[in-house]
Amino acid sequence: MTQHEASAAPTALLELARDIAVRASEFALEARRGGVTVAATKSSAVDIVTAVDRDTETLIRSLILEARPDDGIVGEEDVAHVGTSGIDWIVDPIDGTVNFLYGVPAWAISIAVAEGAAAGGVGGTTLAGVVVNPSTGEVFEASLGGGARLAGRQLGVNAGVTLSSALVGTGFSYSSERRREQAAVLLELLPQIRDIRRIGSAALDLCALAAGRLDAYYERGLNAWDHSAGALVAREAGARVGGPRGGRETSELLVAAEPGLYEQLAAALRGAGVEA
Ligand code: IPD
Ligand code: CA
Repeated sequence: MTQHEASAAPTALLELARDIAVRASEFALEARRGGVTVAATKSSAVDIVTAVDRDTETLIRSLILEARPDDGIVGEEDVAHVGTSGIDWIVDPIDGTVNFLYGVPAWAISIAVAEGAAAGGVGGTTLAGVVVNPSTGEVFEASLGGGARLAGRQLGVNAGVTLSSALVGTGFSYSSERRREQAAVLLELLPQIRDIRRIGSAALDLCALAAGRLDAYYERGLNAWDHSAGALVAREAGARVGGPRGGRETSELLVAAEPGLYEQLAAALRGAGVEA
């Protein structure tokens, strides 16, 4: 193995990603104590960004480039940095920004490291992923083929759950038109399941699935930075993670659950008009 291959090994990337995510978590938590205000709106009036989102992403970017100057970075709050190594970091400095603003303790730093990703951080193979919930101190992590862990404990999805008893997480778009469609899907799905949870952070939803706190999760309209790290954590905990027509997850659709339940949820979503 060459030196470059060794340094791009999933476990080595995970160590670095964890170190950076924990430092970013401490920074964001401290910054929150100083107060939070909306700095700007993005795709709609309710799609917000705070100064802390931006400052946390700046910190994460500088820590990545200090350690691995040849890598690329795709982050939510800044233009993509194109690298030359074939390795890209996919960063959501604060996933769950609305929770962050309101003081709901379910927001996260999400960092994934992928190989062969295209523009926007899509289409590659995720090698390592870390999701930190600063409010609880929980650090969810996974490396490709290395399993998923929380505080040193191996994570595993709930097995043998049928759709009618499944606790299902989901989320809604910032676009009012897309929300109307999502509400229509929910109207069909809700009578068929135990209940729904809208936690407010896609990264934490996927980690909750990995930890058995949810049985399944689906959402339409996510970006790579919302789901890349969490999807690896969920997969390494035994979930099937997929997208439209049984293919891989895209910004159009992500579905995740233990494989047997995945089939049932996908069928129910198809029944509600979603191309799962
Ligand atoms: C959002 C959260 C939310 C999901 C939205 C995402 P943000 O990310 O993950 O749970 O429903 O689709 O955009 O804006 O808080 O980084
Ligand atoms: Ca996000």
